[in-house]
Amino acid sequence: MEKLKILEFPDKRLRRLSEAVTVFDQNLKTLSTGMLMTMYEERGVGLAAPQVNQPIRLIVMDISENRDQPMVFVNPVVSSYAGRVESNEGCLSVPDIKTDIKRHESIKLDAQDIEGNAISLEADGLFSICVQHEIDHLDGKLFIDYISDIKLQRIRKKIAKQNKAERIERQKNTRLI
Ligand code: NI
Repeated sequence: MEKLKILEFPDKRLRRLSEAVTVFDQNLKTLSTGMLMTMYEERGVGLAAPQVNQPIRLIVMDISENRDQPMVFVNPVVSSYAGRVESNEGCLSVPDIKTDIKRHESIKLDAQDIEGNAISLEADGLFSICVQHEIDHLDGKLFIDYISDIKLQRIRKKIAKQNKAERIERQKNTRLI
């Protein structure tokens, strides 16, 4: 299977509202497998279908240290949440940029698995943050939307001043979700 192409900001296709998944067939499985493979290759923690130009409500992630616990959620919804937490984020669709934003600390996630069975679970830490980041992708939202244009410009200027080696080093330390 070939690695899927990831759309990058400011591509307008990242801004679409993704449709609910209603058919749980082999195509959906193939897409989720391709997304996981692409996510691992790109050293990401999570990936949402619209990032690979498939505007449907499907997300994949792996938050484990050993990168051996793939998760797939279809039609994910945050049904309740509590607390606020600062989250340092980067995104495979927004190269180089990394910034702190605020997220819900813990959430309840309702979703379906790849077969269409209902799932309900509680998440906190990176799991919670990653789910919120990926669901935002399904709604056409990016993590940089949470910061002001002025702050984004400041980050961009800083990046422009860094040389390539510094940029690569910085990227290595970023969790891309
Ligand atoms: Ni992302």
